[in-house]
Amino acid sequence: MNSWTIRTKLTFWYTIVFGGTLVLFGLLTYLAFSYANNKRIDVGLKEEAEGIAHYERISENFFRKYVERISNENDEEWASGKYVAILNHAGNLQFRSGNLKDAHLSLNNHQITEILSGKTYFTTVRDPKGRLLRIITISKKDTRELIQIGIVVNRDGALKIFSLALTALGCLAIIGSWFGGLFMAKKALKPINRMIKELQKIEPEQLDKRLTLHSAKDEINELSGVINEMLSRLENSFNQIRQFTANASHELRTPLAIMKAGIEVSLSKERDVRGYQQVLANNLEDLGRLSKIIENLFILTQADTGRYELHKQRMNLYPVIAEIAEQLKLIAEPKNIFVSMEKMEDSFIEGDELLIRMMLLNLIDNAVKYTQPNGTIQMSLCKDNGWVEIAIRDNGIGIPQEDISHIFERFYRTSNARAADQAGGGLGLSICQWIVKSHHGSITVKSELRKGSAFMVTLPTC
Ligand SMILES: Nc1ncnc2c1ncn2[C@@H]1O[C@H](COP(=O)(O)OP(=O)(O)O)[C@@H](O)[C@H]1O
Ligand SMILES: [Mg+2]
Repeated sequence: MNSWTIRTKLTFWYTIVFGGTLVLFGLLTYLAFSYANNKRIDVGLKEEAEGIAHYERISENFFRKYVERISNENDEEWASGKYVAILNHAGNLQFRSGNLKDAHLSLNNHQITEILSGKTYFTTVRDPKGRLLRIITISKKDTRELIQIGIVVNRDGALKIFSLALTALGCLAIIGSWFGGLFMAKKALKPINRMIKELQKIEPEQLDKRLTLHSAKDEINELSGVINEMLSRLENSFNQIRQFTANASHELRTPLAIMKAGIEVSLSKERDVRGYQQVLANNLEDLGRLSKIIENLFILTQADTGRYELHKQRMNLYPVIAEIAEQLKLIAEPKNIFVSMEKMEDSFIEGDELLIRMMLLNLIDNAVKYTQPNGTIQMSLCKDNGWVEIAIRDNGIGIPQEDISHIFERFYRTSNARAADQAGGGLGLSICQWIVKSHHGSITVKSELRKGSAFMVTLPTC
């Protein structure tokens, strides 16, 4: 059944349920009809037997006349196959009708006793010709004789025709319900077939295509809606991957092109040692940028595929931030940027120290890069109701309002940042966001152009 199509399965079940119900109905009707028919025969037999029992004495003469009369009866059913026999109280045969031949219906002692005590005894047997005989035996109270009358019952034409008609109808019902089921299944599955055809046409390059929706609010329409939503998500991820690849190759191509041009220029004529040293120093700087971008890309790819193994443990953020602030002072000093620490307190989190450091370094690197000389950077660490907040504020170039929602995107750099610092790769904040998320925290930013920015990281304490 597993290899059946839904259409075949639906048709099959429809036939079983609908055809089966019809057949069952026919069977019950037949049984009711046949029961009513048997009842009618039994009533007739009883009336006949009681008619004989009514006579005072059953002499041979009387019996002969009786048999003659029933043989001449117009009613075919009664006349054709009626058997009559009179037995004495011991069950021995006294008279019998000619058509009963040598056979009479023997009764055992128990049956005889029951019949003599007034019970009407019915039985159905087969006669030597193979016909079904319905037989009644009653006792004649005064003489304690047993009167047996039997008739052939399987000659009943009406019942035969009825059963034939029912069989034919049953077969028709099964065939009809099979075709009916087939038709209904085809109709019900038509939208699914249409959906399959539409989906087959959607290639990876055409993810903007959608399934046609109809006004009907049925399950198929709902499914089309869900598939359309899934297609939108796929389209988004595809576009993001395309964008990411394009951005990554662009970011890698620029420093490589600069390096290539530098080397070509230096090779174009002979130079002194200092000239070559200068080119090599420039190349080293560019190589540093390239390896930083590749390193960041590697981290993000691992993060995307869920392969980055986090080594979380209980850690105090205070000494980590204090240490980073010292490092910050070192890189801030040449730009004459003033670094201050506020509201510092012991704050424990469940974290991967390497990643937390990476996040803080990215944030302070940005703060230094995007703050003009003589600016200030403030760092703070405070606890609040199960959460710890790290804030890094600067009074640097700020971020244009329209860019704020994009700065966490990969390779996104604002134009004022590009102007202020050529060296960025635009991946730092994406990594920060991933680190914060993997620590079940959140990162937010408040910024005003030319006034400064504040990055707030909130993490759960432990
Ligand atoms: N402290 C900040 N002040 C101003 N702009 C910032 C600051 N931090 C981040 N940005 C903006 O967000 C962008 C993305 O930051 P990031 O992902 O770290 O990339 P990168 O540092 O390589 O430019 C930056 O290019 C810059 O436009
Ligand atoms: Mg950065």
